[in-house]
Amino acid sequence: MKQPIGVIDSGVGGLTVASELVRQLPKESIIYVGDTKRCPYGPRPKEEVIQYTWEMVHFLMERDIKMLVVACNTATAFTLEQLREELPIPVVGVIQPGARAAITNSRTGEVGVIGTEGTINSKAYVDTLQHINADIKVHDLACPRLAPIVEQGIVQGTEAYQIVNETLQPLKRYKNMDTLILGCTHYPMIRDLIQEVMGPLVMVISSGEETAREVSTILGYHKKLYQGREESQHYFYTTGDVQVFKAIASNWLNKDIEAIDQVELDTVKSLSQR
Ligand code: DGL
Repeated sequence: MKQPIGVIDSGVGGLTVASELVRQLPKESIIYVGDTKRCPYGPRPKEEVIQYTWEMVHFLMERDIKMLVVACNTATAFTLEQLREELPIPVVGVIQPGARAAITNSRTGEVGVIGTEGTINSKAYVDTLQHINADIKVHDLACPRLAPIVEQGIVQGTEAYQIVNETLQPLKRYKNMDTLILGCTHYPMIRDLIQEVMGPLVMVISSGEETAREVSTILGYHKKLYQGREESQHYFYTTGDVQVFKAIASNWLNKDIEAIDQVELDTVKSLSQR
């Protein structure tokens, strides 16, 4: 039996990272947990996000994952360091890979970041970007309306466009900003709308691709890349409605997802409380 890679998110957003993992690492198996019932995490207090994240992690640790991908910016901002300290496996978040990709792309040195209130208020992106390059100018914007529309499946059409357009207006005045980081894993699902509103001069960056590259590098370094002949198998768990999750997952991964179940996380004792 091969060990899977564990992937967590507050809901369906992490599927944008999981799909990149499947594309770049087709031999690897994935177990995904989306805490759809308690999504969004963005407006929740830090302590609550930490507790919910540990519940998902504990669920996955019992399933013998070889690596954890925190495919949620909000959870990454609040828990990455703690998870890295306490877990015996490698842990990758989505903030550093996204920040790195933005720095590689930007010519003007002015970068925008959009994310949940939790992520933006934590200043995790500003710190990470300026840690890499102290001269980078960052324009960040909390977008509390965006993850909920994605979670409801409102990803195209007039309503979605209007919400995205209204939300992003504050960023339009930064004429020198040439790069925009999608600092929430839900946003790649409305990437076309975001690109349309920001215009062709702004490169929109999502962290999925870069995160999957980092996972590949780390597994390679630890000699943990799967070398056998077994087909990969992916399992999905949601705390919310299975049918809704299944429809979004099948659409995003471009195939019918059958291995999907509902899970009760609030009954799982978090690792940090043991
Ligand atoms: N997908 C999560 C992130 O990347 C956020 C959505 C939420 O608010 O739960 O931050």
